[in-house]
Amino acid sequence: MPRLLTPLSFVLIGFLSAIYLPALLPSFIVNVRLTPPPNTNITLSATDNMADALFKLIRNRRSYYPLGKEIAVPKGRIEEIVKEAVLHTPSSFNSQSNRAVVLFGGEHDKFWDITTSVLKPLVPEEQWGQSSGKMSMFKGAAGTVLFFEDQAVVEGCQSSVPAYADKFPIWATQSDAMVQFVVWTALEAEGLGANLQHYNPLVDEKVAAEWKTPANWKLNAQLVFGAKTSKAAEKVFKDVNENVKVYAS
Ligand SMILES: Cc1cc2nc3c(=O)[nH]c(=O)nc-3n(C[C@H](O)[C@H](O)[C@H](O)COP(=O)(O)O)c2cc1C
Repeated sequence: MPRLLTPLSFVLIGFLSAIYLPALLPSFIVNVRLTPPPNTNITLSATDNMADALFKLIRNRRSYYPLGKEIAVPKGRIEEIVKEAVLHTPSSFNSQSNRAVVLFGGEHDKFWDITTSVLKPLVPEEQWGQSSGKMSMFKGAAGTVLFFEDQAVVEGCQSSVPAYADKFPIWATQSDAMVQFVVWTALEAEGLGANLQHYNPLVDEKVAAEWKTPANWKLNAQLVFGAKTSKAAEKVFKDVNENVKVYAS
């Protein structure tokens, strides 16, 4: 696969290695501080209105690394969550382009073994210790949800509505991002921890071969989930009043 060796791949690997591992990096590099208690037990009160309850769940969703394999949530419940998210998340023109594969146990381990084997020849030897540590950390979780968008659906939309041909790929990715957010938030509402990874496109071919996903399913993201074992990093917020403008007349 010559495309794996492009400079972009190295940029991607460097990005994933350097940026996305606050748990393994010294705090002076990434300026990450740990919050006091992990916000694991949210309580929805009877006096919450529906939007308050929703925002409690949204605030509760964070990135957790590392994660454990022992989880109290049954596999069937996780399957149900992913199916509900794929079913009810909106898509442009109701095209329903979202696809997902849920990997538990040995299948989850296999995904991270595959990712490790793909990365190994690409990562400079002196950086392999860190990358290998990340792979072991992700493998140590209970499961991974793979999120895809169906390119056959996207192309069908482009043929049906040529005026928006350039928009459909963007809208499909946006819809998939919504599914990712719903699943991530719902898994945390069940008390699990999760973090979002992007080892696509490096692993795409091996994933398709291993789990027989159709060639038109394009992998977008991987949500690793499991038992929380540590606190989420403190999150610094920009001033929302600068970022949201309101006009009324
Ligand atoms: C589109 C998107 C891409 C992301 N990619 C990664 C990733 O590749 N690796 C990772 O560890 N976290 C990734 N994250 C997680 C973000 O770094 C994280 O959500 C953000 O820092 C806020 O922290 P929180 O999730 O704890 O609220 C991604 C998040 C989003 C929304």
